[in-house]
Amino acid sequence: MTGTPDHLTDDAGAVLAESIDERIFFIRSKRWVAYPKALEILGHLNALLKHPRTTRMPSLAVYGDSGMGKSMLVEKFKDDYVLSAREKPHGPQAKLLVVELAGRPE
Ligand SMILES: Nc1ncnc2c1ncn2[C@@H]1O[C@H](COP(=O)(O)OP(=O)(O)O)[C@@H](O)[C@H]1O
Ligand SMILES: [Mg+2]
Repeated sequence: MTGTPDHLTDDAGAVLAESIDERIFFIRSKRWVAYPKALEILGHLNALLKHPRTTRMPSLAVYGDSGMGKSMLVEKFKDDYVLSAREKPHGPQAKLLVVELAGRPE
């Protein structure tokens, strides 16, 4: 086979040339589907990060049924945040605390 098939991303196409083990590893790796609402929410979260400290800081509540992707969104936000902090080791640092509650709030 020559070149990357049209229906694959560059990353996925590049894996075609790898060993079976590497291809299986890639297939089993974490995937992030960037659907429009998720991108919109990530945009809101990133805007909150840039908000100056004020007495009453704004916040964002995301509501959705179980399995709709809320935890994945937080995970993606966290991963992006870690990557951007690594790229700018001397930039302003803010700590990001992620807390997940199991079960229903009481
Ligand atoms: N953006 C996404 N990209 C890829 N898979 C997703 C995405 N959002 C949700 N999923 C899939 O749906 C499952 C349930 O999502 P999750 O974030 O745990 O839902 P919630 O926290 O709203 O209950 C995840 O384990 C994952 O397999
Ligand atoms: Mg969840």
